[in-house]
Amino acid sequence: MKGDGSEYLCLIILLLHQTSVSRPERFQILVPADPVVADAGEDVVLPCYLEPSISAEDMEVEWVRPDSADALVYLYLDRENKNEKQSPSYRGRTALFPEELKKGNASLRLTGVRGSDDGQYKCFIQSQLWYEDAFVSVRVRAVGIEPVISMEGYREGGIGLLCESKGWYPEPELIWLDSEGHSLPAGPTETLRDSMDLFIVRRSVIVQKGDTNRFSCQVLQKQLKQEKETEFHIPGE
Ligand SMILES: *[C@@H]1O[C@H](CO)[C@@H](O)[C@H](O)[C@H]1NC(C)=O
Repeated sequence: MKGDGSEYLCLIILLLHQTSVSRPERFQILVPADPVVADAGEDVVLPCYLEPSISAEDMEVEWVRPDSADALVYLYLDRENKNEKQSPSYRGRTALFPEELKKGNASLRLTGVRGSDDGQYKCFIQSQLWYEDAFVSVRVRAVGIEPVISMEGYREGGIGLLCESKGWYPEPELIWLDSEGHSLPAGPTETLRDSMDLFIVRRSVIVQKGDTNRFSCQVLQKQLKQEKETEFHIPGE
């Protein structure tokens, strides 16, 4: 009987089948090259997914902060969230997307973005035979409110004025200006953090009464190209 080649085809299929079974199921992790911009107070998705897009449901997915001693942001293991050791600042604010996990998408959702969320994250995925990790960076952005100026009374031969502006990220610069827009020598800038880890800046200046009695406080955030300014008029006597 003359062969029609089908036995060879069977052999090839068998060989292909064997190689795909015996080879470890390798994968790569894909993350964005550019930082993910996150507006304070909003929610953000930190992308991380497998290539090829095999299911990650039976894998371990771990998100950590490499710049703070690998603090745990999120852990998925044995098909469950294992967040007993989660860093307190992430409690109740993180989740994966269960439907997406089946498609190899282990992106993390972070709700109510704070200043302290700024920085690097590591996405680590491990199957029984293989693991990979990749870094995602998050840039938190918050434009603060108009500066508020208050009068601190007479001091050191002039009048003390204090300027304060809240709700910035990253930290802005604060300068005092005279009525002609010239920068005034002022005290050191005091920096504080609010409950959302955003910056509060404060700076005082001592001014002399002059022709206009108008002074301005300007807060500049150069990376965000944002500026807020408030003018103050010292009332006569
Ligand atoms: C992964 O899931 C997130 C959330 O649903 C989605 O925004 C993102 O586009 C998904 N990425 C891929 C590559 O499918």
